[in-house]
Amino acid sequence: MNILKRILGLLSNYKWRAAAAVGLLVIIVLTRLVSPYLTKILIDDIIRGGQVEKLGKVLTILIILTIIRSAFIYIRSYMFEDISQNLVFDLRHSLYTHLQHLPYEFYDNHSVGDIMSRMTGDIDGIRNFFAGGAISLIENFINFTGAIIATFTLDARLASILLIVSPILAYVATKFDKTIRPAFGAIREQNAVLNTKAQENISGIRVVKSFAREDYEKDIFSIENVKQKDKNIKASYIWAHYFSIMDFLSSLGPIILLAVGGYMAIRGTVSLGTLVAFTGYMWMITGPMRMLGWLINMIEQAISSAEKIFYYLDFGSSIKESDNPLFPEKFKGHIKFDDVSFRYRQNYVLKGVNIDVKPGETIAIMGATGTGKTSIINLLGRFYDCTFGHITVDDIDIKNYRLKDLRTQMGYVMQETFLFSETIKANIAFGRVDASMDDIINAAKIAQAHDFIIEMPEGYDTIIGERGTGLSGGQRQRIAIARAILKDPKILIFDDSTSSVDMETEYEIQNALARASADRTTFIIAHRISSVKDADEIIVLEDGKIAERGNHSTLLSEKGIYYTMFKEQYKDFDTIDLEGQVI
Ligand SMILES: Nc1ncnc2c1ncn2[C@@H]1O[C@H](COP(=O)(O)OP(=O)(O)OP(=O)(O)O)[C@@H](O)[C@H]1O
Ligand SMILES: [Mg+2]
Repeated sequence: MNILKRILGLLSNYKWRAAAAVGLLVIIVLTRLVSPYLTKILIDDIIRGGQVEKLGKVLTILIILTIIRSAFIYIRSYMFEDISQNLVFDLRHSLYTHLQHLPYEFYDNHSVGDIMSRMTGDIDGIRNFFAGGAISLIENFINFTGAIIATFTLDARLASILLIVSPILAYVATKFDKTIRPAFGAIREQNAVLNTKAQENISGIRVVKSFAREDYEKDIFSIENVKQKDKNIKASYIWAHYFSIMDFLSSLGPIILLAVGGYMAIRGTVSLGTLVAFTGYMWMITGPMRMLGWLINMIEQAISSAEKIFYYLDFGSSIKESDNPLFPEKFKGHIKFDDVSFRYRQNYVLKGVNIDVKPGETIAIMGATGTGKTSIINLLGRFYDCTFGHITVDDIDIKNYRLKDLRTQMGYVMQETFLFSETIKANIAFGRVDASMDDIINAAKIAQAHDFIIEMPEGYDTIIGERGTGLSGGQRQRIAIARAILKDPKILIFDDSTSSVDMETEYEIQNALARASADRTTFIIAHRISSVKDADEIIVLEDGKIAERGNHSTLLSEKGIYYTMFKEQYKDFDTIDLEGQVI
């Protein structure tokens, strides 16, 4: 009931339009309700009673009613469609806006296929309700109650006979609802499975092909597809079964009516006109009953779609904005982690991490895979909040900044490069859309991307295919670096950002970055010693804890993990000095 209220609440912006549309609908149905009564007058008064002078009047009313009805039906269809399209527009807009603000945590737990199902199928379910279902619902309701009132006014005895089959019909309809509801629920669930399967296969098509697993994927999809077909067929069997019973029962109505009504008419206890009018009203009574299952089902579908959409809309962010946020002019870039511990679920991935990076310094984070490097920088941008401890920027807890302010002062180069299907220019300028072409080129030069960009057919106007097809991994990384640099942030964060570039390019990027990041606080996550050796501080993570820290030479002299990595990486060189330079 609450959900239904909330669905109707979506109409709040269109209250008056909706009221007008419903008003029109009521008039349309009322014009229909009058017709059988006019037939009664035609038969009883005019044909049998000989009051020929009434004929003109009755015909005029019928013509006027028909014209009004046709005109109103046209306007009504337009109005309902207009309201439903506007409403769906609003819903899609608020859902999309909400999705933009949902935290990483949400995306960790919801697949793209699932989200796409909400954005398309479920929104459509709600639209169908307002554009069609709601009309039928109101129409049938007025028809039913109007016809019952009319028949009881005309002849209460005959009217009661009409209602004899209605309890049975109502019983069958509710029974149908109980069987069809899970069947439809299953179809929708299966639809989401199918969507997710298709979406994942297409996104991962390169992996599928490289493992020559096309047949396997095809088979898996077929299994799900067959399930979808079977579930649909099962539902249509239920429909067919139900409809034949409903049709049979509702056809009993006219038979009983004709038998009893006919007998009464012969006996003269009811007029012929009343009997004919009754046959007209009978369809208005049995029609809604026959449609009861369909109507209930349509409401069910709208409710279940709405439930899913509202669940998304209600999914609050665990990353709370401060009530009294501070508005920093510009960060100086002093970053501190004060005894920070963090877990995604049960197990802690970071334990008691302390970091102090002064403005303009560079800190490097090393450590085996899965030790929590990316987690550290995720905490810094508040993509997740730390479980214990505090993180401060310029001695203010990051929770006191507005998320937007915090993040605009940071330039991230993520571990997994994602580029948009846009021009290279637009991709680089993503964080600063007003950047001049000179700025864009300058950032590309620092990221060592300019040379390969100008060699491309359209240069900076080349449109990148989805997920950066058409570019090599290293080229994509360099565009991502340019994107972060152009933003001119106080804090630069590189997560394994040069993993796909060759040693020489990496060296050049580092030199350029050293110049570019002179007054920026920089986080570098890397596996290569050559990427980190110039950092002011290097920390080595092991199992979520800082196992070693210091600069390149102190770490080497400690002969711990860092030293082992160093020896491993430089073992092919004959002689190297402690600065990592080949002699
Ligand atoms: N979204 C997540 N939900 C749950 N656990 C996660 C999530 N992201 C990472 N983890 C877990 O947290 C641990 C640390 O992951 P993290 O990504 O920080 O490692 P990393 O040091 O960056 O590794 P790599 O060098 O492979 O990038 C891992 O054990 C990982 O399984
Ligand atoms: Mg990582």
